[in-house]
Order: sequence, then C-alpha cells, then structure tokens
Amino acid sequence: MGMMVFVAKEQNNCEPRVAASPETVKRLAGLGFDVIVEKGAGLGSRIPDQDFAAVGAAIGKATDASKADVVLKVRRPTDAELKGYKSGAAVIAIMDPYGNDAAVAAMAKAGITAFSMEFMPRITRAQVMDVLSSQANLAGYQAVIDAAAEYDRALPMMMTAAGTVPAAKAFIMGVGVAGLQAIATARRLGAVVTATDVRPAVKEQVQSLGAKFLAVEDEEFKAAETAGGYAKEMSKEYQAKQAALTAEHIAKQDIVITTALIPGRPAPKLVSAAMVASMKPGSVIVDLAVERGGNVEGAVPGKVVTTENGVKIVGHLNVPGRVAASASLLYAKNLYAFLETMVDKTTKTLAIKRDDELVKATMLTDGGRVVHPNFAKAAEEPRTEPAAIPATTMVADAADAKPAAKKKAAAKPKGTA
Ligand code: NAI
Repeated sequence: MGMMVFVAKEQNNCEPRVAASPETVKRLAGLGFDVIVEKGAGLGSRIPDQDFAAVGAAIGKATDASKADVVLKVRRPTDAELKGYKSGAAVIAIMDPYGNDAAVAAMAKAGITAFSMEFMPRITRAQVMDVLSSQANLAGYQAVIDAAAEYDRALPMMMTAAGTVPAAKAFIMGVGVAGLQAIATARRLGAVVTATDVRPAVKEQVQSLGAKFLAVEDEEFKAAETAGGYAKEMSKEYQAKQAALTAEHIAKQDIVITTALIPGRPAPKLVSAAMVASMKPGSVIVDLAVERGGNVEGAVPGKVVTTENGVKIVGHLNVPGRVAASASLLYAKNLYAFLETMVDKTTKTLAIKRDDELVKATMLTDGGRVVHPNFAKAAEEPRTEPAAIPATTMVADAADAKPAAKKKAAAKPKGTA
C-alpha cells in the first residue's frame, strides 16, 4: 500500500477553511499519495466534494483518518480526532501550542508526529510554506473590507455635481504582513492612509505604499527589531510617548485598523478607551489582534461593539476564515510545499528528515514525546504554575540559533509514550 493522506473536515464550527485544494490534491497524487478527503471538508471554502474527486481523491469518512500516514488540518486535532489517528502519523496544522500544554501533551501521548506550521522559520526556502504570511495578508485585506462595510460613509474622495465627499482617513497600527496589506487595500479604496509601527524597517515600506509613517523615532525605536524581524515589547517610557502621539492622531481618524503582535506575548494595548472616546461618531476600529488579547480597549472577541459615542469596534474572530475560499487555496499550498520536502521521490515514501531545519523548527511531538525546544522542557518538569504565554525565544530566532542542533535530542526516537 502506498502513502495515504487524509484531509480532515474541520471540527470547529468557526473554521470554514480546509487544508487542501483540488490543485494540491492533484499534486499529492503526483507525489505518490493516495488522498482521502473527508466528506464536506471543502464546503466552507466553496470546494465541493466532486472537485476533489475529479482530481483523484477518494471522498471518505472521519474514521478513514485511521489509515493515514499524513493528516492535513487547519486547526489542532481534538481529542476525539487524535483517538482516530494511527500512532506515528504526521499531522500538519496550525497547532496554536502556547498556553495549551495539555493539548500538546495529548498529541505526544497519541504518538503522532505533530507539526506546527506557524513555527516555520522565515527564511527564503520556507517562504512558500509561511502560513502566518499567507493568512495575515488576507486578514489585512479583509479588515479594510470589514471596516468599509461598517463605515456609513464612502472611503474615496468623490467630486460630484452635488458636492464633494471627503476621503476617509485610515490609520494602520502595526505594519507587518497584515498591516502592509491593510495599507494597500485602504489606499486602493481611496482612503488617506497613515501607519505606525515600532520597527524602523517599516518606515520605507509604508512610504512606498503611498502612506505616511508616524512613530516615536527615538533610540529605542532604532533597536526595536529582532534578528527574526519581529517586534520587541517596548519599555514603559516608550509606550507612554507612543500613547501621546497616538492620542493626538487618532482623534482625527475615521478608520483605525490594529494588527500589532509580539511573538509569544499578549498583544500590546495601543488604543485606550479615552482614545476611542475622542473619535467622531461613526468612526470604525478593527482590532485584528483581538484573539491574542487585543490592541484596543473595549474590543470584544467575536463582536462588533458600538461605544457610547457611536464608535464601532470590530472584533471578528478568524478573519482569514472570512475570506475562506481564498485563504484555503493559499494555506493548502503552504502545507503541500512543506509536505513535499518530506517525501522521498524515488521510493515514494514519507521520509521525515529530523535534522532538517524546517522540521526541527516545526516538529512539536514525535515518538511519544514533546520534542520542540520551546515546549519539551515544560512537558518534562512537574507543573508548578500554568504555563501561560511564556516569554520564549521567538521561533525565527530560535531556528537561526539552531537550538536543537547541540543536543541531537530533538530527534530522540526512543521516547516513551
Ligand atoms: P506580527 O504579526 O508579529 O506583528 C505585526 C506588527 O505589529 C509587526 O510589524 C510589529 O512590529 C508590530 N508591533 C508590535 N508591537 C507594536 C507596538 N507596540 N506598536 C506598534 N506596532 C507594533 O508581524 P508579522 O506580520 O509576522 O511580520 C513580522 C516581520 O516578519 C516583518 O518584518 C515581515 O516583513 C517579516 N516577514 C518575513 C518573511 C520572510 O522573510 N520569509 C515572511 C513574512 C514576514
């Protein structure tokens, strides 16, 4: 029997995305995989079963997962799903492991080799596998579309015979992948865009998109970018200066989109209730960080809140899932590209290279153990306090420093279940 891939239907009702597309199924078949797609897996992303069947997939049931060498998912498997997998199966998904130690331990116990796609190092070779980028890009786009839908005025300046409609002023806070796309999208819709970030490298990118950069550019700012390209948590002093600058600017904005994140930490609070109160009625704030603690005071996960002064704060969950049909195609491609590196093309067998830097960076559990350096320790030590979001080294940095190389231990195969 050849290698078998199972594409799961997501169990979470809030998750319309799927981990394969007709294109990737076709390519998986080309690599020598037999592919089973769980019935209805693609429906939330507008991919009917017959589209998968047309490229050679068998349409199956959840219980078919037990035959699979590889399971492709969007979200971490539930306990019930884990029970259905064969020991040793590779399971590839967005595992969201921080603060979820028990779930990570359960995956180890189930004997699966779990890969956390969000830990993919941000190096050139892995760009095609970068799920954070592919999904954040769409989230940034959708945030502007959501803002425009809530905003009861037009975004572009319109000069008509009946008079002029002024352009909306949009302020993007946090200019990573999502923020850059939000700037581009708001510009395309005709808004006048300003943006801020704590990383100096961003300034030129903002300007090249035709937006104005606004930030406290002191000495701390000049050193705020880590080797991995991420932000650091800023000092209290910096935060105070940033808040003063933001307060003045935000009062004049019509639309604010916040995307600021710090890896492994709660999202920084950037917009206070007082700042929200200073905005005009009908202004809209979209908090893309709402699932990670939120950038905006008063944002509620999963809700659109209208404040006393008539400002709407949008806190949609799973924003990439709001453009699921696009998000799934890109996500599927990210997973395919990674899986392809783990296939021996001559023997057409799964050959996970445990010393490969992509494998080392993303492998969470293997051979019955938690093997990822950021979690293995927590799994071994007796629990004293719940490991809330720990201040870990960031993934990209950790990968650069090759933490697992010292102790070949990461690949320790003789683990106990
Ligand atoms: P992210 O999602 O971790 O954070 C979003 C943004 O929030 C970042 O730009 C960050 O600097 C900003 N931020 C954090 N704290 C802030 C604060 N207090 N005030 C204002 N802004 C704050 O970032 P993302 O989107 O993952 O991008 C991180 C970096 O990685 C970027 O430089 C991006 O260009 C780079 N990147 C590199 C890739 C590669 O080389 N393959 C692929 C994708 C991204």
